[in-house]
Amino acid sequence: MTARISLCIVGYGYWGPKLVRNFLGLKECRNIVVCDSMETRRFQAVADFPSVQVTADFASVLANPAIAAVVIATPVTTHFPLAKAALLAGKHVLVEKPLATTAEHAEELVALAARQGLSLMVDHTFVYHSVVARIKTLLDESHLGKLRYIDSTRINLGLFQHDVNVIWDLAVHDVSIVHHLVPERPVSVQAIGASHVANGLENIGFLVLRYASGLIVHSNCSWISPVKIRHMLFGGDKRMILYNDLDTEEPIKIYDSGFEARSDDERSQLLFDYRVGDIHSPKIVIAEALQSMARDFVRSIHAQRPAISNGAFGLEIVKVLAAAERSIRSNGTEIRLA
Ligand SMILES: NC(=O)c1ccc[n+]([C@@H]2O[C@H](COP(=O)([O-])OP(=O)(O)OC[C@H]3O[C@@H](n4cnc5c(N)ncnc54)[C@H](O)[C@@H]3O)[C@@H](O)[C@H]2O)c1
Repeated sequence: MTARISLCIVGYGYWGPKLVRNFLGLKECRNIVVCDSMETRRFQAVADFPSVQVTADFASVLANPAIAAVVIATPVTTHFPLAKAALLAGKHVLVEKPLATTAEHAEELVALAARQGLSLMVDHTFVYHSVVARIKTLLDESHLGKLRYIDSTRINLGLFQHDVNVIWDLAVHDVSIVHHLVPERPVSVQAIGASHVANGLENIGFLVLRYASGLIVHSNCSWISPVKIRHMLFGGDKRMILYNDLDTEEPIKIYDSGFEARSDDERSQLLFDYRVGDIHSPKIVIAEALQSMARDFVRSIHAQRPAISNGAFGLEIVKVLAAAERSIRSNGTEIRLA
């Protein structure tokens, strides 16, 4: 039987409780310590989960040899210093998305984890989503034909983040989903955004990724929409998919629709044939993605193998987001990616 591990979840705000619940649900986990600098959050943790221990002292967590792993669910700008300290203390580390706010910091964490022989993983939750897994199978089996575009709308009212803009908070999901689904990597990034608050952080953002194959990816994200929409369209030349993350009954609809362009030699014009066929909605049993993510982290530690959403994967996402940030600062200039 594999030894059960004890871990510490740092940050018990909005997302931390979901992590605690999911790690407590794993048979591979023994004790969970919650570390939060706010007393009210520590009280809340004990009220929600009486079996957890709580502390405000991150240094004592790092010094405790019984704690094998640290899960970081604090604001994004704190990810790098906390993850670095944990890796230096010999702990396996799971960091909430995104891994860090600069490519240099993300690279440093990946290199440090490798030197220390420790697992480093990022919670890109959608990578573990049952619906995303089904879309991946459909794409891998060329069910859509040649993939032409992915168009995502990820908008709602709030939650405003205090330390990063909406691209780092919401478009990060689109970039990680696309990286997981598509073997190709983008050749360039363009982004624009607007801030309507005093701290200057963009609360609306539009991101475009271009690929050598001609694939184009667009992400529209916002914290100031009156309606919550979580739509992703995947357009192939044979079929197209609408993924509605808020529809648990029919999360994906496959449209047997497409178009074909042919030239009319007589008039040297392009003519288009449109095909509008059946719509099919496959049954998908939706398991909790966070549970699969938590399990992958624990198993990566036990089996000493990289998790799906490992540090290197997280670094690739940070590189795209950092380039998007540069593009926003230069009024939407197209930034080439190496
Ligand atoms: N994977 C997802 O889908 C998803 C969804 C939401 C949030 N997140 C991520 O989770 C992280 C936390 O977001 P949130 O919305 O829960 O934030 P939050 O502000 O609600 O909670 C953060 C908590 O961390 C505590 N904290 C801050 N600095 C600390 C420190 N140095 N030591 C100990 N405790 C500290 C705060 O007291 C607070 O309770 C972010 O990285 C965010 O991107 C991920």
